[in-house]
Amino acid sequence: MGDPMKWVKKDPEKENVFWPTEAAKARAWVSDESIYAEAKADPVAFWEKYAKEIHWFKRWDKAYEFAPEAYKWFVGGKLNLSYNCLDRQIDAGNGDRIALIWEPEPVEEEAISLTYKELHRLVSKFSNVLKGLGVTKGDRIGIYMPMIPEAVIAMQACARIGAVHSVVFSAFSPDSLRDRMVDAGAKVVITADGYYRRGKAIDLKKNADTGVEGTPVEKVVVVKRLDKSTPMTPGRDLWYHELMDGASESHQAEEMDSEDLLFLLYTSGTTGKPKGIMHTTGGYAVQSYLTAKWNFDLHEGDIYWCTADVGWITGHTYINYAPLLNGVTSLLYEGSPDAPDYGRMWAIIEKHKVTQLYTAPTAIRMFLKWGNEWPKKYDLSSLRLLGTVGEPINVDAWMWYFEVIGGGRCPVIDTWWQTETGANMVNNLPGIGPFIPTVAGRTFPGVHGEILDAGGSVLAPGEGGYLAIFSPFPPALTRGIYGDMERFKAQYFTEYGPERYFTSDGARMDETGNTRITGRVDDVMNVAGHRLATAEVESALAQNNKVSEVAVVSRPHDLKGEVPIAFVLLKGGVDHSDEIRKELMGTVNQVIGPTGRPDKIIFVDDVPKTRSGKIMRRVLKALVRDEPVGDLTTLQNPESVDQLKSLVDYKGG
Ligand code: WT7
Repeated sequence: MGDPMKWVKKDPEKENVFWPTEAAKARAWVSDESIYAEAKADPVAFWEKYAKEIHWFKRWDKAYEFAPEAYKWFVGGKLNLSYNCLDRQIDAGNGDRIALIWEPEPVEEEAISLTYKELHRLVSKFSNVLKGLGVTKGDRIGIYMPMIPEAVIAMQACARIGAVHSVVFSAFSPDSLRDRMVDAGAKVVITADGYYRRGKAIDLKKNADTGVEGTPVEKVVVVKRLDKSTPMTPGRDLWYHELMDGASESHQAEEMDSEDLLFLLYTSGTTGKPKGIMHTTGGYAVQSYLTAKWNFDLHEGDIYWCTADVGWITGHTYINYAPLLNGVTSLLYEGSPDAPDYGRMWAIIEKHKVTQLYTAPTAIRMFLKWGNEWPKKYDLSSLRLLGTVGEPINVDAWMWYFEVIGGGRCPVIDTWWQTETGANMVNNLPGIGPFIPTVAGRTFPGVHGEILDAGGSVLAPGEGGYLAIFSPFPPALTRGIYGDMERFKAQYFTEYGPERYFTSDGARMDETGNTRITGRVDDVMNVAGHRLATAEVESALAQNNKVSEVAVVSRPHDLKGEVPIAFVLLKGGVDHSDEIRKELMGTVNQVIGPTGRPDKIIFVDDVPKTRSGKIMRRVLKALVRDEPVGDLTTLQNPESVDQLKSLVDYKGG
């Protein structure tokens, strides 16, 4: 075999700047710079043009309508997202292509491939199952599932019948499931008996049982993944396979209004309470479809692998909906990247001849740490393109990804976006470039972003400020927070008014529009790619009755990006000990799940407070980062800072 094709070349003048080769341009869906000007001149017409590439039962009457906190896309249009993923592919003659490849964690188990026709059949059957359970359009359905094909089937079936799915990450605690199911008013939860993680069978059903207590959930559908018996609650719990056995294969997809609610996905805001981000059908479908097609250069025969979990927005959009909208194969891996050893990622790429890999900086840093010998053992020459998402990437991780994994041949597409934006918003295109470490790139065509100062003025190139997205808003931008439109307005549209969406991310942009995202400017952390509010960890710890007061701040971490550090004041009479520390970690596990665990719990006698009694988190943050604490004159207890200085001194810890 000859050398694999090169898709990028070095800039002759600038260090670490790469451009698409002629071959990449020839292959890419867009390779002409003029696409940006065209989209900018009339963004609404731009999105309309590409909206016509998907299937509508009825075309829209009006493409974009703006009202404060009530913007709409493709008004009057009728479509079904699952129909677009499945029926449309079959109608176009793609029914025998592989839609999904599922790679189980245990290496002795065989991978499963499902064609578009087979997936269509299963989704149709499960749609009938849900209808048989009394689920109708608009009902909310919880999905608490591991990385198995049934997770995709469940989401697709909801979309097909017009039910609103609310996926809860399988590693989230029962309490998290309960809060979300109560907030969403969910009628049914779809779960599994368990899954494999690092060779261990994890019991998910037990958590689901606890999590649905005290919620409006009437039925629990359980997928059998493990070879063990599982207690089932009569009248409530139903086996997926038994329901599927008797279900009809014929199902007509529901005609949904473009603005009908498609799904809710809970994510962390700055308070202790996660918010239900709402996404509607038409705009989400169009932007998911187009961004995946252009950004990941999706073509017939591609085996595309996004390593996110279906519980995150990345999994929703770029494992499930967008690859299927584009008729490619989406790979789903059940388990951990270190099972059975550090080579698993690369073994999967070799085995399935993966063409695009989309992962997160925190994962890349971990692979880098594990060493080059692992990827070197495998043939990675099938890869054509690499993607990254979730947090700012550092130069070392980018270069390692580019050179060691991509063999210096593949572009690295650094996509900035959020749960709220539904789909990619800022990144450079594989046929246009440039590809520069730490620079996400320009806003996707049809998306207008600017860097603003606190007062809302557009900043000059190179100046650091806040990234804002201007109306006409991109079609997939969230339509609100479920049951809390006041919070929606307060969070995103008070800073710069109703026509400029405030992202909460710091950024700077050069003369050519290439943007570097510098990270969150609020109290939202990015812990190993998981979004988490410091307030959530605080309120979890506060649930332990030995805790009197608690403050949580983030601290940079080599591998995880950021980690929470908790300052805890215990109630009078309670002495601190490793025992209590363990107990508190357990409390966080119970309330949030392992993703919320502090990196460090520091017991203190006092925390710095303002005269009005508010905890000065700014000072704590400076302390854990070894930065100057700044002006302390407004504190009621400046002496607390000295004590803390000695306590936080745990360099390298
Ligand atoms: C936050 C959103 C949407 C995908 C997964 C995360 C950060 C996301 C990047 C990137 C720098 C990034 C931002 C954003 N972020 N992508 N390419 N470069 N930062 O979704 O959990 O809603 O988190 O992730 O801070 O606000 P999320």
